[in-house]
Amino acid sequence: MPIVHLADMINHANRHNYAVGAFGVSGLQFVEGIIQAAENCRAPVVLNLIESNFENQEFELLMPAVTAAAQRTAVPIAINYDHGTSFASAERAIRAGCNGVMVDTSALLFSDNLWQTRDVVAKAHACGVTVEGELGYVPGVEGENAKHHPGELTYTSAAEAAGFVERTGVDCLAVSIGTVHGRMKGVPKLDYARLAKIKEAVSVPLVIHGGTGLSDDQFRKLIANGVAKINYYTALADIANRRIKENVAADRKGGHNALLSGVSDAVRVEVERCIHLWGCSGRAAEVLAQCRPWHDAEHVMFYNVPETLSENEIATLLREGKKALEAIPGVRSIRASRTIRSDAEYSYCLSVSLASKTAVEAFQNHPAYLRFANTNFWPMISDHITLDLEES
Ligand code: 13P
Repeated sequence: MPIVHLADMINHANRHNYAVGAFGVSGLQFVEGIIQAAENCRAPVVLNLIESNFENQEFELLMPAVTAAAQRTAVPIAINYDHGTSFASAERAIRAGCNGVMVDTSALLFSDNLWQTRDVVAKAHACGVTVEGELGYVPGVEGENAKHHPGELTYTSAAEAAGFVERTGVDCLAVSIGTVHGRMKGVPKLDYARLAKIKEAVSVPLVIHGGTGLSDDQFRKLIANGVAKINYYTALADIANRRIKENVAADRKGGHNALLSGVSDAVRVEVERCIHLWGCSGRAAEVLAQCRPWHDAEHVMFYNVPETLSENEIATLLREGKKALEAIPGVRSIRASRTIRSDAEYSYCLSVSLASKTAVEAFQNHPAYLRFANTNFWPMISDHITLDLEES
């Protein structure tokens, strides 16, 4: 089950002077192509779920497939939610199973960006989830991923970056040193001196957004100057589109499946190129050995109710409990069930699925949990046992 902590994965890249690729996912063909490339290269990889890609498909429906695909691989994988637009985006991502989140408030004033990022960090860290902040502004130029990044480029200042990292507590920092989201207009000029200064000023790994269109040499220099994670999407979308157009040209009467044929393989080839170029091929075993595995966790209560409690009262109790507990950060789902055996020691079970074991601790100390447990639940039931579980 090689989903690993995202912060550990990026820190490994940072310590060993390579960059892990965070490849944008747009449907299952991308998931398959990216994971196949990582397996072929024995490389760690980040599946990047960019919020704007879910305007036409449902994030919550794709995530179980993303998670299942990640869990059955032999290489370390992390699942990151990218460019969330609000605090609710982070909650949604964690609930769906992402172990990294980035809420992009980089277009705001420095102080607003700082406070909002700090709020995300507090909530995400309570669930054990990695947080990426962004300081400075990486705009879009044209193409697939650009329209969501309007405005002018603002360079990251090294002096501001140090304070931002310290006061927000982010695990890694996306910086603006001349890259843009989407396809490039002309050759981008990258400010390596600025990047080196930022690297010296901050204690966390640096991230580059807007990988599409950079040359091999530019990638090498970015990594040599301290970049440990590179976000890459539009080039993959363009490659997928090209493949679909070739399929149409080859057979104008082709059906839907024929149109998509070869897309995941075309994505795979480009991801393999990046993995080799960015120095992460062959790193899977080290990363697996040195990074904490990521497991979701469960808080389970088995209980009995007094005979005087009616079915209606039990149903109301559970309905109210679900409503109160579902809102707690890190709660992924809640299931109420009852035994199918009349001789069981406990007749009922309330099982809360949580993002991680860190989230279990935060859950049990959360005011909403304490209020429900102390006021509604424990006084109503007769006896119980509680277990906190993690996959072994
Ligand atoms: P590109 O689409 O330019 O590769 O950038 C992707 C990105 O930065 C996603 O966060």
